[in-house]
Amino acid sequence: MIRISPSVLASDFSRLGDEAARMAASGAEYLHLDVMDGVFVPNISFGAPVIRAIRKCSDAFFDVHLMITDPIRYVQDFKDAGADGITFHVEAAPDPAAAAQAIRALGCRAAVSLKPATPAEAVFPLLDLADMVLVMTVEPGFGGQSFMHDMCAKIRALRHECTRRGLSTDIQVDGGIDEKTVAEAAAAGANVFVAGSAVFRSADSAATIAALRRIAAENYGKAL
Ligand code: DX5
Ligand code: ZN
Repeated sequence: MIRISPSVLASDFSRLGDEAARMAASGAEYLHLDVMDGVFVPNISFGAPVIRAIRKCSDAFFDVHLMITDPIRYVQDFKDAGADGITFHVEAAPDPAAAAQAIRALGCRAAVSLKPATPAEAVFPLLDLADMVLVMTVEPGFGGQSFMHDMCAKIRALRHECTRRGLSTDIQVDGGIDEKTVAEAAAAGANVFVAGSAVFRSADSAATIAALRRIAAENYGKAL
């Protein structure tokens, strides 16, 4: 299933509720929420209280991307704030299997993410515990960066490994996704697409979301 997940990081923070509602009205079933702690990544964004406030304005699937150290400490807080899915970084968790299990035990979908320098194999032991793998296609920390084309080999390796094991795991990409790069990521086997700047800065967000979805569907799996 192809999903488009607009990243709130690119929204107007003075109108977060309206921005979340605008994305749902534009046809996005997911909303991507980037939590940054200034330690795991060199930037600070927002935390659970802000997500709880936005929750009142949207029925979308809240796709919470934790870029924080020791994520297991906070998963209950994010669940309580309204997360439907929680993504943690394999590099940030002392015991990644325990983190994935803790997220599922809360009734959330569990996802594990890899920074660009982390090889696909780092999450192979977690594939049975994860509903989604997030392949970062930029260095995490900031929106508006350029898509790293060489991450497509990692996406392909993950899709091949999931298929080999009979798993229909979602593979998400995050960073620099637009109407050009979405085709390449989908061809390599990604099916969930985070888009910040491309969607929020578009003059017609609904048209951009529809185009991303159509291009992803047309290209999915072509380079596998
Ligand atoms: C980066 C964040 C991304 C970011 C994507 O660390 O994880 O979700 O918002 O923004 P764009 O789509 O503008 O690259
Ligand atoms: Zn993100």
